[in-house]
Amino acid sequence: MSAQVPHAAVSPAGPLAELDQWDDFVQGRYREGKSEAEFRVYDAAATPGVAEFYRLNHEGQTVAYVLEKEQQYFGLNKGMKTIWEAAEFLNTLVDTSDPDTDLTQIEHLLQTSEAIRKDNHPRWMVLTGFLHDLGKCLCLYGVPQWGVVGDTFPVGCAWSESIVFPEYFAANPDRMVPEYQSKYGIYDPNSGLENLHMSFGHDGYIAEVMKPYLPVEALYMLRFHSFYPWHRHGAYDHLANEQDRAMLTWVLKFNQYDLYSKGHAKPDLLELKPYYDELFAEFLPEKVAW
Ligand SMILES: [Fe+2]
Ligand SMILES: [Fe+2]
Repeated sequence: MSAQVPHAAVSPAGPLAELDQWDDFVQGRYREGKSEAEFRVYDAAATPGVAEFYRLNHEGQTVAYVLEKEQQYFGLNKGMKTIWEAAEFLNTLVDTSDPDTDLTQIEHLLQTSEAIRKDNHPRWMVLTGFLHDLGKCLCLYGVPQWGVVGDTFPVGCAWSESIVFPEYFAANPDRMVPEYQSKYGIYDPNSGLENLHMSFGHDGYIAEVMKPYLPVEALYMLRFHSFYPWHRHGAYDHLANEQDRAMLTWVLKFNQYDLYSKGHAKPDLLELKPYYDELFAEFLPEKVAW
């Protein structure tokens, strides 16, 4: 596949004015000092587009949908790209709402990775910060917003009440499948999070892309960074194993950078590029399969 990317900005189609509106929503939800009740008010009043987005997500993320998308994308048959090519490709997903204050996709990645770097975390974690949202290119492959971002959860077993807007699961066809509605569903007790079929999105996809190259801690950060029901609310522990519990602290450590690095000064890509060239070369081949 050619590395050429279209010059015209591609805006995501769906109820979110821009893909990052979901990230902003999550940040608001977990902002320090906000009570659960306040989140609820924020949910309903401030973000009707986000509520509609979750309605579509909870209706559409079925076992059948997830298996189909895993089949379609986890084979990594969308071509070879360098990390910079992948980042430039993602950057064609332009936010249209306010170009003066909004970050580009690359700026969000760099803010996350630079915040991790400033706190002297291992180099693989800095790299993970840069990579973590590259899977949002699914949007550019034509996957709808609700299949790219959003809190993730396992399909094929009972939905946790800690998933945001749980009432929207009423329209999910899996509701009619008794096996999918039981506590363990299609899984064995404590079978391990890696063995679950998670609702499809950018997290699982980037973890598949990076699986051959990064340490297990990094893969947990990539695969589960939007699995808020687990890492923030403690849900689904009955499906987790000892490795998952050991990795939780890393996922949480990572999550604070994803949520709260936004809004710092815009990173200077040209100045930072040599550092990242070296970082990519340390862990990754020149081109990776997407
Ligand atoms: Fe993300
Ligand atoms: Fe992010």
